[in-house]
Amino acid sequence: MSAAGEPGLVVIGGSHAGHQVGIAARNAGYEKPITILSDEDAVPYQRPPLSKAYLMGKVEREALYFRPASFYPEHGIDLRLGVAATAFDNQTKTVTCADGTELPYEKLVIATGTRVRELPVPGADFKGVSYIRTLADIEAMMDGLDTVKNVVVIGGGFIGLEGAAALRTMGRTVTVVEMQDRLMARGVGETVSAFFAGHHREQGVDVMLSTGVESLAGEDGRVTGVNLSTGETVPADLVIVGIGVLPNQEIAEAAGVACDNGVLVDEYMQTSEPGVLAVGDVTRFSCRFMEGTVRLESVQNATDQARTAGATAARQDKPYDTAPWFWSDQFDLKLQMTGLTGGHDREIIRGDVKAGAFSVFYFKGDKWLGTDTVNQPTDHISSRRLLDAGYALSAEEAADAGVSLKELVKSVRKAAK
Ligand code: APR
Repeated sequence: MSAAGEPGLVVIGGSHAGHQVGIAARNAGYEKPITILSDEDAVPYQRPPLSKAYLMGKVEREALYFRPASFYPEHGIDLRLGVAATAFDNQTKTVTCADGTELPYEKLVIATGTRVRELPVPGADFKGVSYIRTLADIEAMMDGLDTVKNVVVIGGGFIGLEGAAALRTMGRTVTVVEMQDRLMARGVGETVSAFFAGHHREQGVDVMLSTGVESLAGEDGRVTGVNLSTGETVPADLVIVGIGVLPNQEIAEAAGVACDNGVLVDEYMQTSEPGVLAVGDVTRFSCRFMEGTVRLESVQNATDQARTAGATAARQDKPYDTAPWFWSDQFDLKLQMTGLTGGHDREIIRGDVKAGAFSVFYFKGDKWLGTDTVNQPTDHISSRRLLDAGYALSAEEAADAGVSLKELVKSVRKAAK
């Protein structure tokens, strides 16, 4: 390994993508110093359990950490917690940190992720209004949870619904307020949206669709209710806001890196600036799974892009070309999604929607775009493998429950050998 102090790889951001790039670069044979700058105080941790098992007190804090704190120095990775990068200059190859420190680099990785979209209404700054993004957010929320009876969740997307399911399971009165006419509209089709609305209602969650929020009501600086577009006020002693996220691209933009609602990258995670890579939720790229470009918010994207960027830093060529996949756990339902299914014009259903075990295959014309499954993990895995292999599933095959997807995967793999 080269001498310390020599410019090496500097990663800005220490979440799913950021910590993984450091590890992946080492594993791929990158020998120079590796530094990860994280503006959070916690050792890099998994976010998905925050809105589920961690909120419900089912897992300890340490169980969220990807690796114990000792792992990083043992692998020659200088993990600097609580250190925000404020700017970089790709001419002089230096990163400036909030504490004034300047750090030279040979290669830089932008892994700055996203931040929550803040609720744009009066009263949004009352105490008792929470977001679910960071460990600090969730721990602050859990701190006052004992006295909470009425919860209003603003936003019926993945985060909001996971929080709603967790808090309902914990015995709270829960209302979900969603401005669109169906749940999770960004990610799933109509059948899945309707099924989840029904399931939440069966579990006692009040799901209000096509409903906006005018303002929050409060007393002595604490939230007491949510004033809706219908004129109604729903009482609340905890309001959870899950109305989407925005890419943290400003540091890249200021340094002249090309951005367009995300930092633009190629299949090697290379940005428009030589030696500057980007990974995770902050990136935008083109792929064979949809037309145009996409910015994906998922663990799969963060992890796989990080592996590619680690390889790029170590001068290996491993293009990123994985079928996107996502999941969401709500009550006893495991929703798994693969492919990019926006813009579909047909849904083909296998299984029993009423029984909560089914798969939806999405088509645009004759083209299969992807599959959502509810409690059907085998269909999910097989769909992922078929998409990865570039298999063009036909609508007839999708509709025929006698066609085993698992067997299709086997024959596709055999043919590829
Ligand atoms: N009032 C009510 N609903 C709103 C409002 C509003 N003012 N503004 C937006 N919404 C709704 C949107 O219509 C959408 O259904 O909030 C929902 C936000 O859903 P997502 O875009 O899925 O975002 P979120 O659930 O916050 O998740 C953020 O975390 O788990 C990850 O995959 C998830 O990356 C995503 C991120």
